[in-house]
Amino acid sequence: MAIPNPSSNSYSVVTGASQGIGQYLAINLAKRGYNVVLVARRKALLDELAAQIEADYGVKALSRPCDLADPAARKELTDEIRGMQIDILCNDAGTATFGNLAELPEDKEHLQMQLNANAVHELILAVLPQMVERRSGGILNVGSAAGNMPIPYNSTYAASKAFVNTFSEALRGEMVDYGINVTLLAPGPVRPVEKTEDEETFLDRMIPSFMWANSDEVAQMSLDGLRDNKRRIVPGIIGKIMNAIGYLPHPVTLPGNKFVYKKLSEGNI
Ligand SMILES: NC(=O)c1ccc[n+]([C@@H]2O[C@H](COP(=O)([O-])OP(=O)(O)OC[C@H]3O[C@@H](n4cnc5c(N)ncnc54)[C@H](OP(=O)(O)O)[C@@H]3O)[C@@H](O)[C@H]2O)c1
Repeated sequence: MAIPNPSSNSYSVVTGASQGIGQYLAINLAKRGYNVVLVARRKALLDELAAQIEADYGVKALSRPCDLADPAARKELTDEIRGMQIDILCNDAGTATFGNLAELPEDKEHLQMQLNANAVHELILAVLPQMVERRSGGILNVGSAAGNMPIPYNSTYAASKAFVNTFSEALRGEMVDYGINVTLLAPGPVRPVEKTEDEETFLDRMIPSFMWANSDEVAQMSLDGLRDNKRRIVPGIIGKIMNAIGYLPHPVTLPGNKFVYKKLSEGNI
């Protein structure tokens, strides 16, 4: 199955397009000739990226600032995209909290669930009918290797990504009958394309560069994977190790995860 070729009247939607993997998904879709709808909260960054994409690649780029953790704002966006021809949807936007759930601010945990799980679900539900009608389309969901296992001190994030991972692969099983490609990106740690020395963490210094994947490489791999209808893309050696650990029995992995993520949440790694 192939994803639709670019056309002048259809769009790809990318959430989380203002930075990181999402920004490079948008740029690489545009490089491949697709018009893009850029979604995130920071309007100025989206406007700038839209202008850059139109100038560099000659496709249409629409800036759509939207707080995807807000159900009312999400509805405005889904109402709009229901009325457009959407050939590709990339659900990238996501945030993570680290720490003891009992001590984390309750509102942030709610917002994380809204963004990481509900927004993904609603955007897919909004574009699916038209894709099914055309018997073509592509959906790329950004889950995480963290979504393969319970992770104390990262509990809401890991569980919200478990939703994305499972939903994506289940949906893929259904959509294969309609000619719609569904691919899950389940990364481990991903590096920004550029990082100053000041921004480097302990992990950056400890793990050699060749073991990392950066946002641009991850975006390109993911779009290739979506084109080829791969089930799951896991970039980088660290991601592959994390992904494999997720398939071990959970009672075996839980103590190690608890130890590592407690340190991470305390800023000791
Ligand atoms: N980087 C990693 O190591 C890694 C590993 C595994 C999985 N992932 C997953 O990959 C995805 C992208 O990660 P990343 O590190 O590239 O992200 P990032 O650099 O932190 O960027 C997050 C993006 O999501 C947008 N966003 C955040 N809250 C939003 C909201 N309420 N409404 C709309 N947009 C919102 C941000 O834009 P605004 O701030 O402008 O809204 C930004 O564009 C996430 O789903 C993440 O969980 C990342």
